[in-house]
Amino acid sequence: MKKEQLIFDERYVGTLTATGISKFYGENNEVKALDGLSLQLFTGQFVVILGASGSGKSTLLNLIGGMDTVSEGSINIAGVDITKLSEKMYAQYRREVVGFIFQFYNLMPNLTVLENVELSELPGGMKAEDALKAVGLENKHNSFPSELSGGEQQRVSIARAIVKNPTVLLCDEPTGALDSKTGKKIIKLLMDVNKNKDKIVVVVTHNAAIAEIADRVIKISDGKVISDVLQTRPKKLEEIDL
Ligand SMILES: Nc1ncnc2c1ncn2[C@@H]1O[C@H](COP(=O)(O)OP(=O)(O)OP(=O)(O)O)[C@@H](O)[C@H]1O
Ligand SMILES: [Mg+2]
Repeated sequence: MKKEQLIFDERYVGTLTATGISKFYGENNEVKALDGLSLQLFTGQFVVILGASGSGKSTLLNLIGGMDTVSEGSINIAGVDITKLSEKMYAQYRREVVGFIFQFYNLMPNLTVLENVELSELPGGMKAEDALKAVGLENKHNSFPSELSGGEQQRVSIARAIVKNPTVLLCDEPTGALDSKTGKKIIKLLMDVNKNKDKIVVVVTHNAAIAEIADRVIKISDGKVISDVLQTRPKKLEEIDL
């Protein structure tokens, strides 16, 4: 019998469409983290989402990444509404389709660097060693997260996200803890994932310089899209200061 997961085969992805998604928090739904937001994302487009603190950026990534469920609306990927998936399929979506670089890393403290990344290995993906090499941490395999700097922990979380060769790569402030040179290397890595493998890559940031190199910049405010601009001639990575 064919496995259900084949519906998410990356060859059929192409677009991700969020339609009227809302996320309410609080007893009386008084916090509107997202407020009827709609957008469509395409493979091969390097998308940067900008917005003030509290505007709903992480909430949006969490919903797309299957980390949380919508209060209203739908999210359609490759013809599948992920908001209607069974628990089991939702877990499979998170595990096999989505790579998530968390704003606060979320590493397992009792596992080494290598073990943290190995946890996300999938058949057909990269090897943990190669993902760690890609982020410049080949010498830290046996360290524990508490023995690493903030920027190193951030890079472990990036290795963990890319190791599975995800179809949808969601990056929440992926360079927040990195110096300019390391930050650029990481952005280059994310852009390569995007260009070479035809993935959906979304970068959330406060850093307006990163937006200058994006194919598309989406601004959100109070849980809504307030502008969505295609940049026909984005700057080159060498031209910006992170
Ligand atoms: N679990 C939660 N319970 C209650 N309110 C929440 C929860 N998560 C987020 N919020 C609220 O939803 C709004 C959007 O939060 P979100 O984390 O998406 O913002 P953000 O744009 O990522 O901000 P930042 O740039 O500071 O990371 C905020 O007002 C926040 O306080
Ligand atoms: Mg956030």
